[in-house]
Parts: sequence; structure tokens; C-alpha cells
Amino acid sequence: MTNDEMKLNTPQPLKIVEIRQENATNKTFVLDGALDAQPGQFVMAWLPGWPDKPFSLAHANPLSVTIAAVGPLSQTLHGLAVGDSIWLRGPLGHGYRLTGQPGDHLLLIGGGYGVAPLRYLAEVALARGYRVSVIVGARRAQDLLLVSAFEALGVATWVTTEDGSAGLKGLVTDAIAPALAGSAGRPALICTCGPTGMLRAVAAVGAAENIPVQVSWEAHMRCGIGLCGSCEVGAGWLTCLDGPVFPFDPEQVAPAASVI
Ligand SMILES: Cc1cc2nc3c(=O)[nH]c(=O)nc-3n(C[C@H](O)[C@H](O)[C@H](O)COP(=O)(O)OP(=O)(O)OC[C@H]3O[C@@H](n4cnc5c(N)ncnc54)[C@H](O)[C@@H]3O)c2cc1C
Ligand code: FES
Repeated sequence: MTNDEMKLNTPQPLKIVEIRQENATNKTFVLDGALDAQPGQFVMAWLPGWPDKPFSLAHANPLSVTIAAVGPLSQTLHGLAVGDSIWLRGPLGHGYRLTGQPGDHLLLIGGGYGVAPLRYLAEVALARGYRVSVIVGARRAQDLLLVSAFEALGVATWVTTEDGSAGLKGLVTDAIAPALAGSAGRPALICTCGPTGMLRAVAAVGAAENIPVQVSWEAHMRCGIGLCGSCEVGAGWLTCLDGPVFPFDPEQVAPAASVI
């Protein structure tokens, strides 16, 4: 499967070669394809009889998506087995942009299934010589995602849970101060993915600390390619085309500021 083929606006069937149960609600589906794609980009996933929906790339090679079972489509996807097919088109949108230079400290902050694209980003950033640390947040210990995968990459990992059943009790933002005081030093960039409220809170801390923040925004998507307007946010920005990753840099008049 080549990138050009996957850029066709026709979903391509890809066979599931592995399914990993990551936690109580998330499964990673590893597919028999690869893409030339950036962390933070997404694919539109389709099954016969369903409208297609966006999923962040959990990895480009092999192509993988991590899916939380929350509603009709995601629960149906969770019912699939190795050998079944998922129809995908992509890669779509803009991913994270690794500004700065090798040696810089990159802080990743993820909540819920938003952690999945950050593991792929950590791998790419480490390969380019960045120093990486991560804050993984969840409601309860059993909802934490990919903590051991980050540890396996050798990334300094901070864990928060709202009920205190693992790591620091509180929200991901409560771990930012300890992460800033950690041995990796002050981050040159924060990349974050998760629920909207969490993104706003992280962007506010970044603004207060004068650290650039890139957020992966979520919006209702239909076409995924800038045609239908259903994912419009802020002053006419399309999440599928201009995002889903938007910069939030207090030093710039970034267009994404209107999104936040
Ligand atoms: C750019 C982008 C990337 C995305 N990446 C991923 C990804 O990597 N993994 C992933 O699982 N999903 C991802 N999503 C969300 C995904 O596209 C679907 O919205 C999600 O799978 C729910 O679809 P559904 O049809 O199963 O349920 P829906 O019918 O859409 O939702 C069913 C119910 O669940 C609620 N709900 C929806 N999402 C959540 C949630 N996360 N937590 C709790 N309740 C929820 C809804 O409010 C609704 O009440 C992404 C969305 C966008 C825009
Ligand atoms: S999903 Fe149609 S314009 Fe973005």
C-alpha cells in the first residue's frame, strides 16, 4: 500500500494483523499497511453500513489506530477480529511540527485515547535527537494508556489519576510543575492531545510559562478533506484541513489562538 493509494478519496480495505487490548476501553488495531505520515495526522475509518470517522495514527508503519469503545462505530470496531478488514483513507490533516532542534526537551501531555498519537510522536522525536518526557493522565489506574510503552522507549513518564489510584492524584496540569522541575529541564515545546478542557488548561499553562504549545483539536468530521465544513472552528478554520494539530504560541499571533 503506497501513500498515493491511501490519499485517494476512496477507502482502502486493510486487514487487521494484530489486536492489543491496551486497557479497559482501548484496543490497538495493527493493520497490514504502512503510510508516509506524521504523528498527529489521522485516517478516516469506515465499515460497510457506517459513516466513516476520524482516528489519529497510533503508528504509520505498521499502520495502527488505538480506539476507545464509546459508541456505535467504535464498539463495532472493537468486535472485529484478526483477519477482518477496516476501510481507511488518509493520511489526512496536519500533524505535530517538531520545531526547535535536536537536544531540545519536548514535553508530551495526553489524556484518554489522546495518549495514542503521542507515543508515535515520542518515537519520531527520539529518533531526531530530542529529549522527551510525557505526562499521561486518566480518571482511574485502569484507564491509563500506554504508560509501559513510553517507559520502554526510555521516556521520563509522569502519571496522574483523578482518583489517586496511580501516580499523582489530580489532573495532568498538576504534573506540569514537577515535570518542569525534572532533570530534563524546561521544555522547548509542549505537544498535547486529549479532551478539549484538558487542551485549554494545558495551553493556558504554556501561555503562562511562555512555552509554545501544539494541541490536537477534535471536531465533528464528515468528509475529512475540507469540503463539508462540519469541522469548522474559530474564525473559519477547518480542523480536518488546517489541523487537527494547531500551534498555540504566545509569542506569535497564531491563527490557532482563535480556536483556543
Ligand atoms: C482528529 C480526530 C482524531 C480522533 N482520534 C481518535 C482516536 O485515536 N481514537 C478514538 O477512539 N477516537 C478518536 N476520535 C473520535 C472518533 O472519531 C469517534 O468520535 C469516536 O470513536 C466515537 O464514535 P462512535 O460512533 O463510536 O460514538 P458516538 O456515537 O460518536 O458517541 C457515542 C457517545 O459517546 C460519547 N463519546 C464520544 N467520544 C467519547 C470519548 N472519547 N470518551 C467518552 N465519551 C465519548 C459521545 O458524546 C456519545 O454520547 C478522533 C476524532 C477526531 C476528530
Ligand atoms: S470534515 Fe468536512 S470540512 Fe472538515
